[in-house]
Amino acid sequence: MHATNEKVARSQVVDEGPRAVRWSQVEEAFYVGNSRGNFVGYIDRGPDGAFRSFDSMSTLRGEASTLEESMASPRCTVLRHCGRSGSTMTVNNDAASTSQSGELKYLVYTSVATRKMLPEDLESILFTSRRRNLDARITGLLLYRGNVFIQFLEGPALEVDSLMDRISCDDRHSRVRVLVVERVAERSFADWKMGFAIPKDTRPTGIEGLRDSFTDLTSGAYYDVVRQAAEDFSVWFKAGQRAGSS
Ligand SMILES: Cc1cc2nc3c(=O)[nH]c(=O)nc-3n(C[C@H](O)[C@H](O)[C@H](O)COP(=O)(O)O)c2cc1C
Repeated sequence: MHATNEKVARSQVVDEGPRAVRWSQVEEAFYVGNSRGNFVGYIDRGPDGAFRSFDSMSTLRGEASTLEESMASPRCTVLRHCGRSGSTMTVNNDAASTSQSGELKYLVYTSVATRKMLPEDLESILFTSRRRNLDARITGLLLYRGNVFIQFLEGPALEVDSLMDRISCDDRHSRVRVLVVERVAERSFADWKMGFAIPKDTRPTGIEGLRDSFTDLTSGAYYDVVRQAAEDFSVWFKAGQRAGSS
């Protein structure tokens, strides 16, 4: 491991904004990233000339042929530290930078429950969610299966950001990983304050291409795959709602 206390030779900020990552060169071909004063990872150039990015736990997150690419790499993740519980939230830079024009922020994350969720635990989360999301004009869907959560949130950007700050500090789950962030013009879940479902083992509908599991999304799935999965779940959920109400 390289020492990080040497004189900073150069620094570069990637992704302006509150979650900007500042990369500081501390040695030749060794860069340390921080976001709002928190160490988020480092980039090291190997003997083969490739730049490898690591998160704050020294887990390899990506490889690129140029430094710029490595700093903006989709696999180069930003770990947000939560003051209250010490947990972290991983934001996929690819997702964070994929914003288009539109009024609403659409965000999808996965996380892993820190203990087995009892029905009353889930009820409590939903009770709070429905009450507070209504006030914040946030709609969405929460799915829970096999100790993994996936939640779709959409609403005013500031409200979604503020909610994500609270959610990432919640010690009922950890490994919060933001998979999709987009600006959208319309809501996908406009009819529900916060839908909730526990997908079963079998496919819930006959819709072609519908996936019945999301555990793989927690481990580095590609953006397009995740985006498609989000769509599938939203279709599945709406289909279930319609079937239930007819
Ligand atoms: C998986 C999961 C999803 C959650 N979703 C929401 C949500 O959509 N809206 C919400 O207000 N709180 C949600 N919460 C609860 C928040 O993390 C937090 O406990 C709650 O908003 C109260 O925050 P506060 O105590 O800081 O006021 C969720 C918690 C978990 C574990």
